[in-house]
Amino acid sequence: ASQSLKRIMITGAPASGKGTQCVLIAAKYGVVHISTGDMLRAEVKAGSELGKAAKGFMDSGQLVPDDLIIGMLQSRLQQEDVLKQGWLLDGFPRTDAQAEALDQAGVQPDVVLQLDVDDKVLLERVVGRRTDPVTGAIYHLKFDPPPNDPQILDRLVHRSDDTEEKALVRLEQYYSHAATLLSRYSNVVQKVNGMQDKNAVFKEIEFAVDATFAPKSKPGDGK
Ligand code: AP5
Repeated sequence: ASQSLKRIMITGAPASGKGTQCVLIAAKYGVVHISTGDMLRAEVKAGSELGKAAKGFMDSGQLVPDDLIIGMLQSRLQQEDVLKQGWLLDGFPRTDAQAEALDQAGVQPDVVLQLDVDDKVLLERVVGRRTDPVTGAIYHLKFDPPPNDPQILDRLVHRSDDTEEKALVRLEQYYSHAATLLSRYSNVVQKVNGMQDKNAVFKEIEFAVDATFAPKSKPGDGK
């Protein structure tokens, strides 16, 4: 059965819409959404050793060192839900060493969705993002406003790395690794225009995912 499990990666610059699309992808395809950013934020919140070690890097927009993150991700990939449902990796791998670790463990994606968004738009998305710590919902004050419910509005969080200054550091980190990473997966990369509204972006993603998993005709079929 494991052969039919979907293995999807999503990549893109900070605030390109990965988390937003992952909610829709996980709901439609039943895969487990694994976001290393969310996992790290949960570790920070819990005050674990890993969280303490990661916090400074995250707050300044730097990448967390590979040795801290690779073990965390590899143990997540062994958990039962992932083994049963397949996975949607969001924010990992982010460096060549991380990709190499996956390779060594025999972990390969069927498809890599690359969200393409201009830098100027990314910065606008970063500063307006708010998240609901109770439901995990991602909003944008202008593009995807939260419901007008005082209880929700009161608890919304603005991430500490969501300032323009820190987003520029995150962008730089992203671009310094992106080309090498994408070339590693070039045979399965599908570019998606992330500048459209979120439903239109999801339509493109569905198209790419459905095409990836459509039954392939074997050589010689129909001849
Ligand atoms: P992480 O949490 O992965 O941050 P990121 O890559 O910067 O991505 P974001 O979560 O900022 O954005 P997103 O693409 O998910 O966009 P979203 O959907 O929220 O990582 C954070 C930190 O953790 C890193 O800096 C690093 O320190 C550490 N880390 C994590 N993984 C690591 C790893 N593998 N190695 C080392 N360190 C690691 O959308 C953004 C906003 O835009 C929202 O407000 C949303 O409402 C809005 N929006 C979304 N789609 C649209 C649309 N189509 N139109 C208009 N607005 C939209």
